[in-house]
Amino acid sequence: MQALVQDIYGTSDVLRLEDVDRPEPKGGEVLVRIAAAAVNAADWHIMRGEPRIARLMDRGVFGRTGPRERIRGRDFAGTVEALGPGVTGWQVGDPVLGEAGATFAEFATVAVGCLARTPEALSFVDAAALPLAATTADLCLTRGGVQKGDRVLVIGASGGVGTFAVQLAAARGATVTGVCSTRNVDLVTSLGATEVVDYTHDDFTRTGASYDCVLDLVGNRRLRDLRRCVAPGGTLVLSGGGNAGEGRYLGPVGLMARGTIFGRLLGLRVQIPRAVPDAERLTEIAAMAARGELRCVIDRTYALSAAAAAMRHVEVEHARGKVVVTV
Ligand SMILES: NC(=O)c1ccc[n+]([C@@H]2O[C@H](COP(=O)([O-])OP(=O)(O)OC[C@H]3O[C@@H](n4cnc5c(N)ncnc54)[C@H](OP(=O)(O)O)[C@@H]3O)[C@@H](O)[C@H]2O)c1
Repeated sequence: MQALVQDIYGTSDVLRLEDVDRPEPKGGEVLVRIAAAAVNAADWHIMRGEPRIARLMDRGVFGRTGPRERIRGRDFAGTVEALGPGVTGWQVGDPVLGEAGATFAEFATVAVGCLARTPEALSFVDAAALPLAATTADLCLTRGGVQKGDRVLVIGASGGVGTFAVQLAAARGATVTGVCSTRNVDLVTSLGATEVVDYTHDDFTRTGASYDCVLDLVGNRRLRDLRRCVAPGGTLVLSGGGNAGEGRYLGPVGLMARGTIFGRLLGLRVQIPRAVPDAERLTEIAAMAARGELRCVIDRTYALSAAAAAMRHVEVEHARGKVVVTV
């Protein structure tokens, strides 16, 4: 089968399409025929091996000189192709979505605990956009304690996670302010934000407004600036961040560490959620999307043969919503 592979860290130039062996599902796994797979910020962080502190730790997906898994991609939507030993509750041909490793490929093996059923009304492209981005957005809002009547600030509102966060916060009954660049102001408004701050013209930390939950998906501001935006008793949620070529060594890890250490001293509640595959919540989110209650903003689709360009798009060109690779 064809897959997008890399052997060393670098820009999208290190990626290439290669013929590799089709994986075999082990016990508790299914083989999925991939129809579409979205690109996430995590994919280019792994491709580049950044922030570099992750390489030094030599743990998880990050090896010293290259990613442990050669094939990139994490989100997927497709159909069950074969069942591994002992798998029940799934059938060949079932439409599915979820998170796994190595999904920029024709086939991938997936642990059944990471598998959700795709509702009929959802296209493969829309389904592929949901797993990591929408569940992260949902988790961040939950950790931020967002409920009806709250004021929520989403920094990075036009990206993969942000476009879902704005909608899911509005669906919880919150009043949402989004931060994005000029070209995305109308998009973020259309997703349910009542106010939008264009960061190319205005500094959202100096408007005098404060929020019950500040969700930072960009990670490029100082803790003391972010603190000004958090209302008394409110929560700062730090989800990551980092632009290509900036903060190569520590990236958002520095802000997260300062948030953990100094947040308490500054009287600030800081949450640093880490998304893990949650098939149950993903099933509920996919149902919302199928009912038309959650819009998947698709910036562009790329064929698998152009998946390196898709990665470059998200890494360098700032995606508007999600970029999806179709197989
Ligand atoms: N904690 C977790 O488990 C977890 C899970 C998933 C993702 N994340 C992290 O969450 C972050 C966002 O992910 P994503 O998939 O949404 O990334 P993305 O699709 O690349 O979106 C990033 C967005 O940030 C905006 N942006 C860039 N510079 C900005 C600035 N100076 N001020 C305000 N906005 C700015 C861009 O909007 P414009 O084009 O309008 O500039 C872009 O739309 C990533 O760093 C990712 O690693 C964390």
